[in-house]
Amino acid sequence: MRAFFLFVGVDRGRPGWYDRPVATTHPSVSRVGLIGDVHGEDRRLERALEFFAACTVDRVLVAGDLVDGYGDVERTLALLEDARVDAIRGNHERWFLAGEERARRLATPALSVRARRYLESLPPTRRYETPRGGLLLGHGVGEDDMAFLRPETSGYALQDIDALRELMLDPEIQYYAGGHTHVRMVRVFTGLVVVNAGTILRDDDPVVAIVDFEREEVEFHASHEDSPPTFLERLALPRPAPLEMPVFP
Ligand SMILES: [Fe+2]
Ligand SMILES: [Fe+2]
Repeated sequence: MRAFFLFVGVDRGRPGWYDRPVATTHPSVSRVGLIGDVHGEDRRLERALEFFAACTVDRVLVAGDLVDGYGDVERTLALLEDARVDAIRGNHERWFLAGEERARRLATPALSVRARRYLESLPPTRRYETPRGGLLLGHGVGEDDMAFLRPETSGYALQDIDALRELMLDPEIQYYAGGHTHVRMVRVFTGLVVVNAGTILRDDDPVVAIVDFEREEVEFHASHEDSPPTFLERLALPRPAPLEMPVFP
């Protein structure tokens, strides 16, 4: 029996073959519109998308929890898909697709094939490059869509969030944008700054945000059903605290 051998050679003697920079595929953004938990608020979402289109942002990022709410969830998902926003999936999308937690108040009972396919297409996180460093979009904290990181979270509750520690120590991620708590927040940690866009759910102080990495500013705007968002406050976007500090001061 004749054996054939195929040798695929790598010219290791060629200068520079090993140290060529790996091309980043992460989109670059400088100024983004940021929407936290949507929970089916189609009318507020529509006003927010019109607002972001008028104030020139590079992209609109949506931090998950799109289903389960008072409004028209089918229309909510069509608006997001048609506007080509960068959405990710939250715990409510995970639950919906698995048929879990459907007895909850405001649970979405069913969706069209198109809407379901859209939900199935959503990743848990998305990565970007900004003028100040790497940005991760997620729902809770990083890949953990159930992690609650609130303005007052401290001590053991803070140390229990493993995903936060991982992001703080990740040299490629300096900023994290998320949701889940329904509470807006800009908070600085060692090696990481966290921006939470809050929610547009009518029960919970509905807001949207603009994050400008070039000017290092975060603007929060109150979200309304029948009129454009209105300015609430402008905060400095801090830089991450230096890594030589203790991880949990
Ligand atoms: Fe939520
Ligand atoms: Fe959530």
